[in-house]
Amino acid sequence: MNIIICETAEEASLKAAALIANAVRTRPETVLGLATGSTPLRLYQALIQAYRDGLDFSRVQTFNLDEYYGLAPDHPQSYRRFMNEHLFNHLNLKPENTHVPDGLARDVAAFCTEYEAKIQAAGGIDIQVLGIGSDGHIGFNEPSSSLASRTRLVTLTQQTVSDNARFFASADEVPRHAISMGIGTILEAKCCMMLSFGSNKAKAVRAAIEGGISQFTPASALQMHPNTTVFLDEAAAADLEMKEYYRWSAACP
Ligand code: GLP
Repeated sequence: MNIIICETAEEASLKAAALIANAVRTRPETVLGLATGSTPLRLYQALIQAYRDGLDFSRVQTFNLDEYYGLAPDHPQSYRRFMNEHLFNHLNLKPENTHVPDGLARDVAAFCTEYEAKIQAAGGIDIQVLGIGSDGHIGFNEPSSSLASRTRLVTLTQQTVSDNARFFASADEVPRHAISMGIGTILEAKCCMMLSFGSNKAKAVRAAIEGGISQFTPASALQMHPNTTVFLDEAAAADLEMKEYYRWSAACP
């Protein structure tokens, strides 16, 4: 794992965005794996700016990690709507090249198999953007998810329901289920970048980076991935035992 500690979330987001923009510039048919949540918002703004400055996204394909099960695509809290509003509507992506799991899929198992097949048909994900839940989840792979899991229907933890209740009128309205890429699916991306900001993530970040690989900290599976970069602000990095080493190593020519 390559650990980049920045003074601010802004600086970290711009660094991550620059890597993505560079990949799209070099290979216009880049396949991006995308995440929702507040963490990647600044990164998405930077990609929108890159588009306004001339970067072409017309051949890029995107696959989102997850979607609440039971929410229609136009529900104010659906991840499809989040992506349209915060990124897709502002780039020249072809709508048919943007993929978000269907929260209303009737045959969920068939849908999940097809989602995986579409990722394969696109040539696999080149860069997967990830946030981390305060319980260490990636996508909606909650603690105890199999490290070999594939796209499937999952049940959210009470922690995640309460973390995400801020976006809904009440915790009762937060869906209890989601369709999420599995940890096995995520690990197949050629490059992963996990972003994490703020002190409420420090414990999960430490467990993910310096704890043992465990299904109880799904993000720790990234330790097995050959090309993962973690972008942190100072607050999220606060509990890391080896943070001075990560800084030193990132500064080494
Ligand atoms: C949700 C998403 C995750 C995201 C997490 C953290 O649970 N399914 O993909 O990483 O929230 O959200 P935030 O970035 O708002 O802290």
